[in-house]
Amino acid sequence: MTAPIAHFNGKLLPLDQISISPLDRGFIFGDGVYEVIPVYDGVALRAREHFERLQRSMDEIQLANPHTVDEWMKITQELLRHHPGDQAVYIQVTRGAPQKRDHVIPKGLQPTVFMMSNPMSTPSREAVENGVACVTSRDFRWEKCHVKSTSLLGNVLARQLSVEAGATETILFRDGKLTEASSSNVFVVKDGTVYAPPRDNLILMGITYDLVMQLARDGAVKLEQRHVSEQEVRDADEIWLSSSTKEVLAVTKLDGKPVGTGKPGPAFKRMHALYQEYKAKLAKARPVTA
Ligand SMILES: Cc1ncc(COP(=O)(O)O)c(C=O)c1O
Repeated sequence: MTAPIAHFNGKLLPLDQISISPLDRGFIFGDGVYEVIPVYDGVALRAREHFERLQRSMDEIQLANPHTVDEWMKITQELLRHHPGDQAVYIQVTRGAPQKRDHVIPKGLQPTVFMMSNPMSTPSREAVENGVACVTSRDFRWEKCHVKSTSLLGNVLARQLSVEAGATETILFRDGKLTEASSSNVFVVKDGTVYAPPRDNLILMGITYDLVMQLARDGAVKLEQRHVSEQEVRDADEIWLSSSTKEVLAVTKLDGKPVGTGKPGPAFKRMHALYQEYKAKLAKARPVTA
């Protein structure tokens, strides 16, 4: 089998012909940022917003962006010519490979750009209809969770807790308040109102989180952004996860106990329908990758 085509520093190459220096600061320090863009049959969902977030992440870590948003969009289109169907495009930019290992940020280093695309599987019908199980943990990550950094050890260890419990995600609490999950944002529903933790440095500002906000506004769903206590999460009628690849997904079991009725609730069903409608409209409006 031939290796899939990937992008490396301006070139399209088979994945197995790409090699990266062991001195690359991405490898040595996790000194880089990334994005994951969902693509539905060739149409990239909110690609511009993903590249704008990439810019914000790069600004936060003082890394000069090698491309404009329009250039990124073009590079993505070129890569997607080799990857038809539903895809998740992965983009990573690291600070590059200096001559020696040193914490100090070197000046004038060429960043390393790597992109690949993999078939994306959205949540199964079973997961949408029955919801998924989650566990909880203290949020033991750093205080710059708004940066989409490749330094993901905290997230990896958090996710592993759910893997070991046979669950889909680990929902995190910091100082008694909900932050997010290891690779998703989290919403809770109580008495018909949706609550979302505020956009601050303790969560990643999800592109799907923003889309849920927009869909709630347009669909007259009551949504409030405010801190949510651990107790409120445990007493919620509904809990949802959101991410580019999970879309919106109901959590129906938390730490082994049913959430609400133990079935995806009415607010989830409404938001899931709004999300699917949005995707369907997008495919009609933009038949080619945008
Ligand atoms: C920690 C974390 N929070 C939230 C999200 C959801 O972000 P998005 O909706 O942009 O995929 C992700 C996505 O990977 C994530 O890693």
